[in-house]
Amino acid sequence: MKNQSVKDVIKDRYGKIARGEQTFCCPTCGPTPADQSLAVGYTPEDLQLVPELAVLGVGCGNPTALADLKEGETVLDLGSGAGIDVFLAAKKVGESGRVIGVDMTEDMVAKGSLLAKQHGYGNVDFRLGYIEQLPVDSGTVDVVISNCVINLTPDKLASFREVHRVLKPGGRILIADLVTAGELPPEVRASAAAWADCLAGAMEKEAYLATIRQAGFAAVTVVSESAYAAPEMDERLRGKIISVKVRGLKSQ
Ligand SMILES: C[S@@+](CC[C@H](N)C(=O)[O-])C[C@H]1O[C@@H](n2cnc3c(N)ncnc32)[C@H](O)[C@@H]1O
Repeated sequence: MKNQSVKDVIKDRYGKIARGEQTFCCPTCGPTPADQSLAVGYTPEDLQLVPELAVLGVGCGNPTALADLKEGETVLDLGSGAGIDVFLAAKKVGESGRVIGVDMTEDMVAKGSLLAKQHGYGNVDFRLGYIEQLPVDSGTVDVVISNCVINLTPDKLASFREVHRVLKPGGRILIADLVTAGELPPEVRASAAAWADCLAGAMEKEAYLATIRQAGFAAVTVVSESAYAAPEMDERLRGKIISVKVRGLKSQ
């Protein structure tokens, strides 16, 4: 599969989700986006804090709960969607901080920007761009977060190198993502739709952690992990899709 065709399928999928035309999830849906979000680690209080339309139920963790964000910090969210984690981070860093969301799908960026305006968030900024070529200046970010996005890029090393570039020395990452344990069926790996479902592009766990280290990160550790299970899941995938939360540091 060509990288560009994977990106086109993913943009088409997430454009439809942004416009409310589909409710596909990563990798399976709960009954509602809020239920799906509660199932992956958000609290009811988190969901009350953010605009309702920012909750799409397409994440696989709750990165701001683990990122230890502080007042005044600059945060970057990779693949920010409609902004659930951008808005949660914005509350934590306060008016003296700043949160940038980057997403390649125009309707996601438009939706996040509109919600920010409608709900009076003055410290957030949604930018159209690729995580493999971030539209962010070097050495300007304290913390990079991401929620179920890096599995979607065919070039994970380029993305983590970009993350390393934009972080300040001593900056940190808290990434929620899907990885694999064991082989996935070849037809799943070859399916563009399975890429958009956050399955086909997921990397084997140790290779994923090695990629983060190769990009220059130190102290790369798995904060938590759990097998991703859903009642309607393809039986051949059961136990092989792992939700991980990973920390890492850019050296001083
Ligand atoms: C599974 S959704 C997660 C959205 C958001 N993080 C959340 O939890 O609601 C993945 C998002 O990443 C974006 N995305 C996928 N690949 C990307 C890439 N290479 N560069 C920038 N954005 C990307 C998609 O457009 C989509 O909005």
